[in-house]
Amino acid sequence: MKHLLKMLDLTTEEITEILDLADQLKYELNHGIPHPHLKGKTLGMIFQKASTRTRVSFETGMYQLGGYPLFLSSNDLQIGRGEPVQDTARVLSRYLNGIMIRTFEQSEVEALAEYGSIPIINGLTDFSHPCQVLADLMTIREFKGKLEGLKMCFIGDGNNMANSLIVGCLKMGMAVSIACPDDYQPPKEILDFATQYDCFEMTDSPAQAAKNADVLITDVWASMGQESEAAKRREAFAGYQINDELMACANADAMVLHCLPAHREEEITEKVFEAHAKEIFEEAENRLHAQKAVMVKLMA
Ligand code: CP
Ligand code: NVA
Repeated sequence: MKHLLKMLDLTTEEITEILDLADQLKYELNHGIPHPHLKGKTLGMIFQKASTRTRVSFETGMYQLGGYPLFLSSNDLQIGRGEPVQDTARVLSRYLNGIMIRTFEQSEVEALAEYGSIPIINGLTDFSHPCQVLADLMTIREFKGKLEGLKMCFIGDGNNMANSLIVGCLKMGMAVSIACPDDYQPPKEILDFATQYDCFEMTDSPAQAAKNADVLITDVWASMGQESEAAKRREAFAGYQINDELMACANADAMVLHCLPAHREEEITEKVFEAHAKEIFEEAENRLHAQKAVMVKLMA
């Protein structure tokens, strides 16, 4: 494993190794055991979109590993003024030991990896959010004691979160159902992968998808960069909400996850959100541990 660009690139074994190391790093942090695996190393963090969790967890994680994080806002980099990503990659590779990038196009992240000579970590693109899904898998395993044989149901937009969850959960032996409106299905590349699995189901009925689910997950109706479509999307996604009625279709002990930020009373009701806050905020914390594991795997 040289980079973390998207879930499609990871093997089941690599995901398991990351989750195991993440558990270990969480234990060490909670027990005051130092783990300076990246002493003297630097991570550049390029942000072309807003972030709370990704920025703070990478920055803190790098510090805890003994390394140094640099926050690089695209507003201040020449990349924001049109310097090609190919050149940026070759320059930054001479200063840094790794790059985390949050941007729009997946191709930009792939180009950084192609032209640079240091590990690249995808901190979210329109296509993929692998760091979040590693944290989600870690959280499911923590609460349920296993992944294999469980059913994950995603309700809503066939977006970066849906894409990464579908691939990550299927690779880990989970059944996957997704409920999305016809016009908002995941891209072909993801469906081509998913339809190889008998335990994958896609429907436009949230109730059907939620049947016997062990984990229910949703995400915002309008992602970053889609703000101008918000009104149209509110209409299209009406009914694609995790609420008490939908929870009744799932298994009685089903857990609920949300990558955050959440829009209460849109994709999830306040009541369900608060009833499952324990899982949702553990999930947010696990971003830190899962990403530290990724950085150690790629950069130590
Ligand atoms: N879930 C997530 O990636 O959050 P941020 O946008 O705050 O980084
Ligand atoms: N789908 C959301 C996820 C935010 C973490 C977005 O891309 O804005």
